[in-house]
Amino acid sequence: METPKQNHINKNEFDHVYEPAEDSYLLIDALEKDLQYLKSKNPTYCLEVGSGSGIVITAFGMAFPKTVCFSTDINLKACSMSKSTARENNVILETINMDLGSCFISNKFDVILFNPPYVVTDTEECASCDITASWAGGVKGREVTDRMLGLIPKIIANNGTFYLLLIEENIPDEVISIMADYGFSSEIIIRRRVRNECQLVVKFFHHKTKWLKCQSSKM
Ligand SMILES: C[S@@+](CC[C@H](N)C(=O)[O-])C[C@H]1O[C@@H](n2cnc3c(N)ncnc32)[C@H](O)[C@@H]1O
Repeated sequence: METPKQNHINKNEFDHVYEPAEDSYLLIDALEKDLQYLKSKNPTYCLEVGSGSGIVITAFGMAFPKTVCFSTDINLKACSMSKSTARENNVILETINMDLGSCFISNKFDVILFNPPYVVTDTEECASCDITASWAGGVKGREVTDRMLGLIPKIIANNGTFYLLLIEENIPDEVISIMADYGFSSEIIIRRRVRNECQLVVKFFHHKTKWLKCQSSKM
Protein backbone atom coordinates (compact mmCIF):
# COMPACT_ATOMS: atom_id res chain seq x y z
CA MET A 1 0.00 0.00 0.00
CA GLU A 2 1.23 3.47 -0.81
CA THR A 3 1.91 5.99 1.95
CA PRO A 4 -0.20 9.10 1.36
CA LYS A 5 1.54 12.43 0.69
CA GLN A 6 1.45 14.76 3.67
CA ASN A 7 3.39 17.76 2.32
CA HIS A 8 0.27 19.91 2.52
CA ILE A 9 0.34 19.76 6.34
CA ASN A 10 2.14 22.48 8.25
CA LYS A 11 4.13 20.93 11.16
CA ASN A 12 2.49 23.34 13.65
CA GLU A 13 -0.88 21.76 12.90
CA PHE A 14 0.35 18.68 14.75
CA ASP A 15 0.13 20.69 17.98
CA HIS A 16 -3.63 20.07 17.64
CA VAL A 17 -3.93 16.85 15.66
CA TYR A 18 -2.23 13.46 16.21
CA GLU A 19 0.90 13.28 14.08
CA PRO A 20 1.23 9.94 12.27
CA ALA A 21 3.52 7.71 14.31
CA GLU A 22 4.59 4.05 14.53
CA ASP A 23 1.07 2.97 15.54
CA SER A 24 -0.46 4.69 12.48
CA TYR A 25 2.05 2.91 10.21
CA LEU A 26 1.51 -0.41 12.00
CA LEU A 27 -2.20 -0.22 11.18
CA ILE A 28 -1.36 0.49 7.53
CA ASP A 29 1.12 -2.41 7.55
CA ALA A 30 -1.58 -4.70 8.97
CA LEU A 31 -3.92 -3.75 6.13
CA GLU A 32 -1.14 -4.34 3.65
CA LYS A 33 -0.48 -7.77 5.16
CA ASP A 34 -4.18 -8.59 4.84
CA LEU A 35 -4.57 -7.10 1.36
CA GLN A 36 -5.52 -10.33 -0.41
CA TYR A 37 -8.22 -11.04 2.18
CA LEU A 38 -9.54 -7.48 1.88
CA LYS A 39 -9.53 -7.66 -1.91
CA SER A 40 -11.50 -10.91 -1.77
CA LYS A 41 -14.15 -9.09 0.29
CA ASN A 42 -14.49 -6.31 -2.28
CA PRO A 43 -15.62 -3.81 0.40
CA THR A 44 -18.32 -1.28 -0.52
CA TYR A 45 -18.08 0.88 2.63
CA CYS A 46 -15.10 1.55 4.92
CA LEU A 47 -15.11 3.63 8.12
CA GLU A 48 -12.12 4.84 10.08
CA VAL A 49 -12.99 5.98 13.59
CA GLY A 50 -10.61 8.60 15.04
CA SER A 51 -8.88 9.32 11.74
CA GLY A 52 -6.57 12.10 13.05
CA SER A 53 -4.43 13.30 10.13
CA GLY A 54 -6.32 10.93 7.79
CA ILE A 55 -3.25 8.95 6.81
CA VAL A 56 -4.78 5.50 7.42
CA ILE A 57 -8.15 5.97 5.71
CA THR A 58 -6.42 7.75 2.81
CA ALA A 59 -4.00 4.83 2.37
CA PHE A 60 -7.02 2.53 2.39
CA GLY A 61 -8.87 4.71 -0.15
CA MET A 62 -5.82 4.74 -2.44
CA ALA A 63 -5.66 0.93 -2.37
CA PHE A 64 -9.45 0.55 -2.78
CA PRO A 65 -10.57 3.36 -5.10
CA LYS A 66 -14.04 1.84 -5.54
CA THR A 67 -14.76 1.68 -1.79
CA VAL A 68 -16.80 4.55 -0.32
CA CYS A 69 -14.71 5.91 2.56
CA PHE A 70 -15.93 7.61 5.74
CA SER A 71 -14.05 8.87 8.76
CA THR A 72 -14.96 10.35 12.12
CA ASP A 73 -13.05 12.18 14.81
CA ILE A 74 -14.05 13.85 18.08
CA ASN A 75 -11.49 16.57 17.28
CA LEU A 76 -12.83 19.01 14.67
CA LYS A 77 -9.31 20.00 13.55
CA ALA A 78 -8.55 16.33 12.88
CA CYS A 79 -11.65 16.11 10.66
CA SER A 80 -10.40 19.03 8.53
CA MET A 81 -6.93 17.50 8.28
CA SER A 82 -8.32 14.08 7.31
CA LYS A 83 -10.38 15.70 4.58
CA SER A 84 -7.40 17.63 3.19
CA THR A 85 -5.09 14.58 3.32
CA ALA A 86 -7.65 12.60 1.35
CA ARG A 87 -8.11 15.42 -1.17
CA GLU A 88 -4.34 15.85 -1.68
CA ASN A 89 -4.14 12.15 -2.51
CA ASN A 90 -7.20 12.09 -4.78
CA VAL A 91 -9.32 10.09 -2.38
CA ILE A 92 -12.97 10.95 -1.84
CA LEU A 93 -13.65 10.95 1.89
CA GLU A 94 -16.73 11.88 3.88
CA THR A 95 -15.55 13.13 7.29
CA ILE A 96 -17.83 13.63 10.27
CA ASN A 97 -17.04 15.27 13.59
CA MET A 98 -18.65 12.87 16.05
CA ASP A 99 -18.13 10.58 19.00
CA LEU A 100 -16.90 7.24 17.61
CA GLY A 101 -19.50 6.10 15.03
CA SER A 102 -22.51 6.83 17.16
CA CYS A 103 -24.54 8.60 14.45
CA PHE A 104 -24.29 5.71 11.99
CA ILE A 105 -27.36 3.91 13.20
CA SER A 106 -28.54 2.37 9.97
CA ASN A 107 -25.20 2.26 8.11
CA LYS A 108 -23.33 -1.01 7.81
CA PHE A 109 -19.60 -0.92 7.08
CA ASP A 110 -17.68 -3.74 5.45
CA VAL A 111 -14.41 -2.58 7.00
CA ILE A 112 -13.93 -0.58 10.21
CA LEU A 113 -10.53 0.71 11.34
CA PHE A 114 -9.59 2.11 14.75
CA ASN A 115 -6.29 3.24 16.21
CA PRO A 116 -7.73 4.44 19.52
CA PRO A 117 -6.35 6.60 22.30
CA TYR A 118 -4.75 3.66 24.15
CA VAL A 119 -2.49 5.14 26.84
CA VAL A 120 -3.43 4.26 30.43
CA THR A 121 -4.54 7.49 32.16
CA ASP A 122 -7.04 8.71 34.76
CA THR A 123 -10.63 8.54 33.56
CA GLU A 124 -10.98 12.34 33.74
CA GLU A 125 -8.31 12.76 31.07
CA CYS A 126 -10.19 10.86 28.40
CA ALA A 127 -13.12 13.20 27.94
CA SER A 128 -11.52 15.89 25.79
CA CYS A 129 -12.02 16.90 22.16
CA ASP A 130 -8.51 18.24 21.60
CA ILE A 131 -5.05 16.68 21.21
CA THR A 132 -5.42 14.90 24.59
CA ALA A 133 -8.12 12.75 22.95
CA SER A 134 -5.38 11.31 20.72
CA TRP A 135 -3.77 9.35 23.50
CA ALA A 136 -5.71 9.44 26.78
CA GLY A 137 -7.40 6.05 27.14
CA GLY A 138 -8.46 6.03 30.82
CA VAL A 139 -8.47 2.82 32.85
CA LYS A 140 -6.43 0.06 31.13
CA GLY A 141 -6.20 2.55 28.23
CA ARG A 142 -9.48 0.98 27.18
CA GLU A 143 -12.31 3.35 28.07
CA VAL A 144 -12.79 4.71 24.54
CA THR A 145 -12.01 1.34 22.93
CA ASP A 146 -14.56 -0.51 25.09
CA ARG A 147 -17.29 1.93 24.08
CA MET A 148 -16.36 1.28 20.46
CA LEU A 149 -16.52 -2.50 20.94
CA GLY A 150 -20.15 -2.14 22.02
CA LEU A 151 -20.93 -0.18 18.89
CA ILE A 152 -19.32 -2.58 16.42
CA PRO A 153 -22.17 -5.13 16.20
CA LYS A 154 -24.58 -2.26 15.38
CA ILE A 155 -22.58 -0.72 12.54
CA ILE A 156 -20.67 -3.57 10.92
CA ALA A 157 -21.94 -5.45 7.88
CA ASN A 158 -22.75 -9.15 8.29
CA ASN A 159 -19.56 -10.17 6.60
CA GLY A 160 -17.58 -7.18 7.88
CA THR A 161 -14.09 -6.92 9.36
CA PHE A 162 -12.84 -4.69 12.17
CA TYR A 163 -9.13 -3.86 12.60
CA LEU A 164 -8.14 -2.56 16.03
CA LEU A 165 -4.75 -1.40 17.27
CA LEU A 166 -3.93 -2.24 20.88
CA ILE A 167 -0.95 -2.25 23.23
CA GLU A 168 -0.22 -5.01 25.76
CA GLU A 169 -1.36 -2.75 28.65
CA ASN A 170 -4.85 -2.79 27.10
CA ILE A 171 -5.00 -6.56 27.86
CA PRO A 172 -5.79 -7.76 24.32
CA ASP A 173 -7.10 -11.13 25.62
CA GLU A 174 -9.93 -9.33 27.40
CA VAL A 175 -10.80 -7.41 24.21
CA ILE A 176 -10.77 -10.66 22.23
CA SER A 177 -13.10 -12.24 24.79
CA ILE A 178 -15.54 -9.27 24.72
CA MET A 179 -15.67 -9.51 20.93
CA ALA A 180 -16.10 -13.30 21.09
CA ASP A 181 -19.24 -12.69 23.19
CA TYR A 182 -20.52 -10.55 20.30
CA GLY A 183 -19.88 -13.50 17.94
CA PHE A 184 -16.55 -12.38 16.46
CA SER A 185 -13.50 -14.51 15.79
CA SER A 186 -10.12 -12.83 15.96
CA GLU A 187 -6.63 -12.99 14.59
CA ILE A 188 -3.53 -11.00 15.52
CA ILE A 189 -2.30 -9.69 12.18
CA ILE A 190 0.88 -7.94 13.23
CA ARG A 191 2.82 -7.19 16.39
CA ARG A 192 5.74 -4.81 16.88
CA ARG A 193 7.80 -3.51 19.79
CA VAL A 194 8.27 0.25 19.65
CA ARG A 195 10.63 1.49 22.34
CA ASN A 196 8.97 0.21 25.57
CA GLU A 197 5.56 -0.41 23.98
CA CYS A 198 4.32 -3.63 22.38
CA GLN A 199 1.75 -2.69 19.72
CA LEU A 200 -0.47 -5.12 17.85
CA VAL A 201 -3.33 -5.07 15.37
CA VAL A 202 -6.19 -7.49 15.91
CA LYS A 203 -8.65 -8.35 13.17
CA PHE A 204 -12.22 -9.28 14.16
CA PHE A 205 -14.55 -11.05 11.78
CA HIS A 206 -17.65 -13.15 11.97
CA HIS A 207 -17.15 -16.82 12.46
CA LYS A 208 -20.23 -18.14 10.60
CA THR A 209 -21.46 -20.70 13.14
CA LYS A 210 -20.71 -18.54 16.19
CA TRP A 211 -22.39 -15.53 14.55
CA LEU A 212 -25.56 -17.46 13.72
CA LYS A 213 -25.69 -18.86 17.29
CA CYS A 214 -25.26 -15.34 18.68
CA GLN A 215 -28.04 -13.98 16.43
CA SER A 216 -30.47 -16.78 17.32
CA SER A 217 -29.83 -16.35 21.05
CA LYS A 218 -30.97 -12.72 20.66
CA MET A 219 -34.32 -13.77 19.11
C1 LIG B 1 -3.99 7.49 18.33
S1 LIG B 1 -4.85 8.73 17.43
C2 LIG B 1 -4.90 7.96 15.82
C3 LIG B 1 -5.04 8.93 14.67
C4 LIG B 1 -4.92 8.28 13.29
N1 LIG B 1 -5.97 7.32 13.09
C5 LIG B 1 -3.59 7.62 13.11
O1 LIG B 1 -3.54 6.37 13.17
O2 LIG B 1 -2.60 8.32 12.95
C6 LIG B 1 -6.53 8.55 18.03
C7 LIG B 1 -7.56 9.44 17.32
O3 LIG B 1 -8.85 9.14 17.87
C8 LIG B 1 -9.57 10.35 18.05
N2 LIG B 1 -10.59 10.09 19.08
C9 LIG B 1 -10.42 9.97 20.41
N3 LIG B 1 -11.59 9.75 21.04
C10 LIG B 1 -12.54 9.72 20.06
C11 LIG B 1 -13.96 9.55 20.07
N4 LIG B 1 -14.63 9.34 21.19
N5 LIG B 1 -14.61 9.59 18.88
C12 LIG B 1 -13.93 9.83 17.71
N6 LIG B 1 -12.60 10.02 17.66
C13 LIG B 1 -11.90 9.95 18.81
C14 LIG B 1 -8.51 11.35 18.45
O4 LIG B 1 -8.93 12.68 18.30
C15 LIG B 1 -7.35 10.93 17.54
O5 LIG B 1 -7.43 11.61 16.30
